[in-house]
Amino acid sequence: MFLAQATAVLVLTVPTRADDLEAAKAQFLKSCGTCHSVEPGAAPRQGPNLHGVIGRKAGTLPGFAYSPALQSWGEVWTEDLLEPWITNAQLTRPGTVMNYRQADEEKRKLIIRYLKSLSAM
Ligand code: HEC
Repeated sequence: MFLAQATAVLVLTVPTRADDLEAAKAQFLKSCGTCHSVEPGAAPRQGPNLHGVIGRKAGTLPGFAYSPALQSWGEVWTEDLLEPWITNAQLTRPGTVMNYRQADEEKRKLIIRYLKSLSAM
């Protein structure tokens, strides 16, 4: 009896997690995909490649022409820094040329969840 219940929980849990990541990826592509590639080594678009961005020092991916504001910032990207950045990039780091705001907290969470999955290696 107990085993049957445990199995049922597992079966229900695993697909849900995968769906979450699919939703996170879809939200990222919709909100950020026009300007940001994510495949390892893929060419930048209007913005830099974001593969492995969590843990990376801001403004340092070789081959991308960052604004002086990002180059001189000195911050390392964390989930806690991405949250205000996505909310309002130009308020978080005045002078950045990324002009983006996302007021919807649920969407921000999905986007950060997706970026996290790309930084897990
Ligand atoms: C209209 C194009 C555009 C959109 C949309 C956009 N970005 Fe950007 N992003 C940029 C540009 C341009 C830069 C470089 C900013 C600079 O140099 O000041 C940038 C930089 C970044 C950086 C800094 C990366 C680094 O290497 O330091 C992060 C993180 C980032 N964007 C995340 C996002 C996320 C997440 C989204 C979606 C919610 C998003 N961006 C949407 C254009 C965009």
